Amino acid sequence: MWSECPMHRHWTDFPNPVFSKPNPMDATSTPKSSPPRTITVRVLRQDGPGQQSYWETYRVPYEPEMNVVSVLQKIAAQAQTVDGRSVAPVAWECNCLEEVCGSCTMVINGRVRQACTALVDRLLEDRPEGIELAPMTKFPVFRDLVVDRSRMFRALQKIRAWLPVDGYYDMGRGPLVSREEQEIAYPLSMCMTCGCCVDACPQYNKIDVPRRAGETDAEYQTRRDAEFDRNFIGAFAVSQVVLFNTHPTGRHTGLERLEALIAEGGIQNCGNAQNCVAVCPKEIPLTTSIGMAGRAATIHSLKRWFDR
Ligand code: SF4
Ligand code: SF4
Ligand code: FES
Repeated sequence: MWSECPMHRHWTDFPNPVFSKPNPMDATSTPKSSPPRTITVRVLRQDGPGQQSYWETYRVPYEPEMNVVSVLQKIAAQAQTVDGRSVAPVAWECNCLEEVCGSCTMVINGRVRQACTALVDRLLEDRPEGIELAPMTKFPVFRDLVVDRSRMFRALQKIRAWLPVDGYYDMGRGPLVSREEQEIAYPLSMCMTCGCCVDACPQYNKIDVPRRAGETDAEYQTRRDAEFDRNFIGAFAVSQVVLFNTHPTGRHTGLERLEALIAEGGIQNCGNAQNCVAVCPKEIPLTTSIGMAGRAATIHSLKRWFDR
């Protein structure tokens, strides 16, 4: 079960660089076992879209307080496997390095999470034999640990995850957001479209739409988006409906979001397994959002039925 996985850590669990230094006066502190000189890292690689994946093992020198991004940088610098073969460097993505952009999301020791906040010392504590890295499981692989999350961005388009305020600059002050609305919206606004929630969701199946010979970019995108739209939008998108429909300006287009929510691939696909909320690194109350969105969708469906 995802919720029982001991690998899940939030950033607040990480040692604070200022306050976590051992106090020499602390008689109760116990000596730690000596750190390893090297770390063994297994990586599930794939040379390109649709190709066969394969495992490769690397050994990198240990340094205190490394994260998985620094391990990947060391692998890229040596580009050599544990048996001495020179190989192409492992491809991965990262950007903010502080768990804000979501781009470094991958499966680390069996758990989907961000590489930038996965600390090696913690990983080795839980699994001393080494670290295992694999791409996310619900998205097509571009190369190695880099996946194509276009489906998530399509879902955000589908539910209109924005405030329609173009040209409002000369219309005076917008409606005030109440304290209660702020309290609902703030945690939901932390979503970074990382994909952990959908990777862990049993209702979110992998969709790979291969390109056809001679197809233009526009033709391919239309066909691919139609396929995405037929399938579950995912917990993050449901939660963004609640975020934008909570905002007094967003409410003006709230019915369009509710329509998207009850369309094919909408909230009715959620099986309430609650894996999503267990793995969300931003601790977004996804199941609360799903409950709120479900009630709004039911009322909206009933109104539509009576208005016929
Ligand atoms: S509660 Fe719904 S969205 Fe979350 S993991 Fe379960 S099926 Fe997926
Ligand atoms: S809801 Fe959480 S797990 Fe899902 S995409 Fe947003 S931040 Fe990531
Ligand atoms: S690099 Fe942005 S979340 Fe890890």
